[in-house]
Amino acid sequence: MKVICTEQSQVLATRVARALKTTVVDVKYSRFPDGEHYLLTGEIDDEMVIVGSVVDSDSLIQLMLLVDACDRATNRLVLPYMAYARQDKRFRPGEPVSSRVIARALSQGISEVITVNIHEKEILKSFSVPAGNLSLAKDIGSFIKTLKLDNPLILAPDEGAVVFAEQVASAGGWEYDHLEKTRLSGVEVKMAPRQLSAKKRSVVIVDDIISTGGTIATAAGMLYQQGAKDVFTACVHGVFTGGAYVRLMATGIRDVACSDTIERGCSRISAADQIARAIRKQ
Ligand code: R5P
Repeated sequence: MKVICTEQSQVLATRVARALKTTVVDVKYSRFPDGEHYLLTGEIDDEMVIVGSVVDSDSLIQLMLLVDACDRATNRLVLPYMAYARQDKRFRPGEPVSSRVIARALSQGISEVITVNIHEKEILKSFSVPAGNLSLAKDIGSFIKTLKLDNPLILAPDEGAVVFAEQVASAGGWEYDHLEKTRLSGVEVKMAPRQLSAKKRSVVIVDDIISTGGTIATAAGMLYQQGAKDVFTACVHGVFTGGAYVRLMATGIRDVACSDTIERGCSRISAADQIARAIRKQ
């Protein structure tokens, strides 16, 4: 068994390979003069683990080319982050179900797929091969332990993420809650924990994705107003679109951490061990 990866997932793929005690196949990536992607792989094995997050259109094309280049092998696809997953419904007539489009496109040439904290588990049914999903909630919990906070309060930014917050909190036996938004007027919104007070406490807001960071930035400001001692945030997928990381830090958030499903400077939680365990089990 060997590992191979797209350019955007080199660090995670190397960690997965180490955990599996194997190597990463060298790939030369380049472009044709018109901008089309080209790649050339080194020697592949009969059994390949292909690691590639879809973070944009280029990484999707590169991943599809990589799968095709490995077509003499048994291919397992590890899709740590899947862009387009949030358009998982036709919210308005005329819209595509984008998650389905990506899942179908990536089902070609592979025998199974592993995702990590996919936005909605229903999306797994859109792959035409067996698909499983891993959760990094426990790993985020272990990371929070390293911050050595005194009795932290784990907060989900909304009710939809409360199960995730509960799983994170179970790593340290901490209290958890979710933020509730109350509209005070046409322009004023208040966000506060639904049941517990943030006063004088270290609060860690946890979520699957930080994209624009808008929700967490607003929440952090309000939690400080409510007397929180410190606010931290940790997520699985650090998309940080349009300067989100800078904006989050500017609110006074002490630390913003994410995993290596998208490789960032603040990727301090790794999905590698869980991915390797899932592959060994198959
Ligand atoms: C929503 O379903 C997700 O769990 C995130 O809360 C959301 O995508 C975060 O978006 P943003 O960072 O743009 O507020």
